[in-house]
Amino acid sequence: MKTILVVGGAGYIGSQMVKMLLAAGYHVVTLDNLSGGYRDAVLGGDFVFGDTADSQGLDRLFAGYAFDGVMHFASFIQVGESVQNPGKYYQNNVAATLNLLDAMVAHQVKAFIFSSTAAIFGEPQYVPLDEQHPKHPRRTR
Ligand SMILES: NC(=O)c1ccc[n+]([C@@H]2O[C@H](COP(=O)([O-])OP(=O)(O)OC[C@H]3O[C@@H](n4cnc5c(N)ncnc54)[C@H](O)[C@@H]3O)[C@@H](O)[C@H]2O)c1
Repeated sequence: MKTILVVGGAGYIGSQMVKMLLAAGYHVVTLDNLSGGYRDAVLGGDFVFGDTADSQGLDRLFAGYAFDGVMHFASFIQVGESVQNPGKYYQNNVAATLNLLDAMVAHQVKAFIFSSTAAIFGEPQYVPLDEQHPKHPRRTR
C-alpha cells in the first residue's frame, strides 16, 4: 500500500483529497496545523498536528514514514489579506513550502503535487473549469 502525505488535509480541498485517496486504497497521513481546517474533516488515516514552518517537526515526520508522495494544500488563501499583509503569505505559502520541499529532498521523496489557485482563471467563461480555460487573473485593487 502506498503512503501519501497530505499537507493541509484538514482544509476544504485537502480533506476531499484525503477522502478520495482513502477510497482508492492509499495509506494517508495528514499534516495540518488546524489554522484554517477542522480535525473532524479528516475522515481517516493518520493525523499529525504540525506546521510546515517547523523544519525539525517535518524531519521527524519524514523519518517516521516512508512516503511515496506529498500533496500540498497548506496555504493561506484570502486574496485580500494577501495584499494587505504579503509577508504573512510569503512566510507561510513560500518559505514554509520550501521547508517541505527540503524535507522531501532530504528524505528522497520525489513525487509532489501542489495545489495552486483557481484565481488565475478570473470570471469563469464555462464550468466546470478545466486547465484549458483562458487565464485572466483578477487584481484586487
Ligand atoms: N478553495 C478553492 O476553491 C481552491 C481552488 C483551487 C485551488 N485551491 C488551493 O488549494 C489550497 C487549499 O485551499 P483550501 O480552500 O482547501 O484552503 P483551507 O484554508 O480550507 O485549507 C488549508 C489547510 O491548510 C492548513 N494549513 C495552512 N497553513 C499550514 C501550515 N503552515 N502547516 C500546516 N497546515 C497548514 C490549514 O489549517 C487548512 O486546514 C490552496 O493552495 C488554494 O489556493 C483552492
